[in-house]
Amino acid sequence: MKIAIDGPAGAGKSTIARKVAAGLGYLYIDTGAMYRALTYHVLAQGLDPLDEEQVKSALDTLNLRLETASSEGINRVFLGAQEITEQIREPQVSQNVSAVSSHLSVRKAMVGLQKGLAKNGNVVMDGRDIGTAVMPDADLKIYLNASVEERAKRRQKELLARGVNVSLKELIEQISHRDFLDSTRKISPLCKADDAIEIDTTHLTVDQVVELVLTLVSRREKSV
Ligand code: CDP
Repeated sequence: MKIAIDGPAGAGKSTIARKVAAGLGYLYIDTGAMYRALTYHVLAQGLDPLDEEQVKSALDTLNLRLETASSEGINRVFLGAQEITEQIREPQVSQNVSAVSSHLSVRKAMVGLQKGLAKNGNVVMDGRDIGTAVMPDADLKIYLNASVEERAKRRQKELLARGVNVSLKELIEQISHRDFLDSTRKISPLCKADDAIEIDTTHLTVDQVVELVLTLVSRREKSV
């Protein structure tokens, strides 16, 4: 089966997708990590995230590798021999990733790579355009959402755990801005696929959401 999980920033996609994949013994692919890795590479070279030609040149030299850590199931991210798993979560990357990922050449390259990774099935992929562009043929499409306040609170907790202190007000602004850029861009914007099931996670725990998705998966399995 192919399972697509989309949704706005901080809706819990990667946590849920990772746990669902672990529960099913499927491959988990964090497509956001791929866009973040490219953004890190663009910034590390002092290139302009808004300039498509410059971003394209970074794409040409991107030596990206994802590795699944056996313990947690998270996607470890490497550029050549350098591990950048932690660095891609830095606020500077978050603030520039929407610009980098809006360029046509970037989307073409990343969606191509992601389609290749998904082709053998038994995969859970999370992102913004998985159900619409990367795996329009997915067996199950989930759209995870939550109020912007709740999403900002979750992101604040995540950042605090890594020693980064950002105010809730600032995070609400940053997340809302990223949602706006991601959902209004011209090419494959963030949007709920017509056949996706929407789950509002505002008042749900991680385990409750994972349970719910696994129930939907087994229901889907029985119907095919
Ligand atoms: O975890 P969070 O929701 O903050 O974001 P992410 O999933 O790591 O994605 C980071 C950014 O990458 C998004 O804000 C989008 O700009 C971009 N992205 C995308 O354009 N398409 C995807 N399939 C996944 C991410």
